[in-house]
Order: sequence, then structure tokens, then C-alpha cells
Amino acid sequence: MGIHEDHILPAIMDVALAGLKDERKQMIGQATGKVLEVGMGNGTNLPFYTEAAEKVVGLEPCDAVREKAKKKLQKISDKGELQIAMDRYEFVGGGGERMAFEDNSFDTAIACLVFCTIPDAIGAAKEVFRVLKPGGKLLFLEHVRYPEGRMQKVQEFINPAWKVFGCGCHLNRDTEQVFSDAGFEFASIERYRNPKMSPPFAAFMIKGTAIKPG
Ligand SMILES: C[S@@+](CC[C@H](N)C(=O)[O-])C[C@H]1O[C@@H](n2cnc3c(N)ncnc32)[C@H](O)[C@@H]1O
Repeated sequence: MGIHEDHILPAIMDVALAGLKDERKQMIGQATGKVLEVGMGNGTNLPFYTEAAEKVVGLEPCDAVREKAKKKLQKISDKGELQIAMDRYEFVGGGGERMAFEDNSFDTAIACLVFCTIPDAIGAAKEVFRVLKPGGKLLFLEHVRYPEGRMQKVQEFINPAWKVFGCGCHLNRDTEQVFSDAGFEFASIERYRNPKMSPPFAAFMIKGTAIKPG
């Protein structure tokens, strides 16, 4: 990896995505049992896990970013801001497209601003489906393609350059369709332009809960 991907981009994202704190908190607060966070990044969601999360496995392919998450966990713990014991967290290297976890082994999966970036999004969604228990839930908060209009055209135009700047991030993914194609059923889904998300051409989002049918 390089300096941009390992250090500069995560720092930019911390600033650009700071407004999403309440939405992150609300989503992560619903995580129960054994939890898999796909593409955990530098650990922004770590402090939001509650007692209901018995185990949190953070999957992250970038070694340097995963190390940042580990350091962040220690820092938050030192400040007394973790809601659960540190030993409930585990950090695992690797991508979402091929996971070394057993079938039907997680109660909850988290997809937070990550399906925009995973190279093979449908492959990863199928893997998440595989490792979730029947009845297990996928909690998601993702920026996606605008459903129509000028902004969708702007996204298409900017996307090639954005992918380079954003280390593989796509502005124009239809992640709702990806989850659906992987076999998930939506228990809830909200589609909205989020004023707290910047830049505006990356501000159309989906959030909600998808279920692996039991
Ligand atoms: C925009 S960041 C989001 C990080 C974190 N989920 C958050 O909410 O702040 C996207 C993350 O996806 C990770 N990623 C890239 N390719 C991936 C893959 N194939 N599988 C899982 N995660 C991946 C990146 O390393 C990066 O940490």
C-alpha cells in the first residue's frame, strides 16, 4: 500500500465523515451477538459497540489501517470510552470477497461505507450472506448512486478520477441491488440525501437492516 491509502485518505475521511457520528452510533447500537465489521478501517465505530455485542471481529485488508484501529482501541479504552471490554474485539486481515470464517457463524454483520470500495462487491455480499446465521442481520450505512437526475450524471463523470483519489471508492454503486442479488431481504431501508455527508456528489445514502432469510 502507499502513504495516500495508509495515512492521508484515512485522515481526510475522518474529517469528511465526522458528521455521520450519530448515524454510526445508531447503527452499531443494534449489533448483537457475534459481530463481523467488514472493512473496519481505522476503527471509527469501535466506541459505539454496546453490551449486546458479545464479540466484534473487525476485518480490514490494509495492514497499516488495521494497526491504526488497534491503536485507536487502546486509546479509547485508556480514556474509559469503550462500552465493552477490549478483549471482545479481534482484528483480522483480509478482504470481504473471501473470508476464512465458517458458514452461519455471525449474528450481525456491519457494512459501513465499505461496499463502495470493495472491488468485487457482489462476491463480498455473498460471503457476508454465507457467514451470517439464518435470521442474522446485515446493518448497513452506505453511500450509493443517486437514483436519477443531474447528480447521477455528475457521479458518472467524476467516478474515474474519484476511484483513484478514493483508493477504489465508487460513487455509482447500486449497493441495495448488490445486497438483494446476494440473497438478503430488507427489513428496513431508507434512501436519502444526507446533508451531513460531503462532497454532495457522494451524499446519497442507504441505511437499514437486511436479513439472511431463516
Ligand atoms: C471508506 S473506508 C470505510 C472504513 C470504515 N468502515 C468506516 O466506516 O470508517 C473503506 C474501507 O474498506 C476497506 N477495503 C478495501 N477493500 C476491501 C475489501 N476487499 N474487503 C473489505 N474491506 C475493504 C479499505 O481498506 C477501507 O478501510
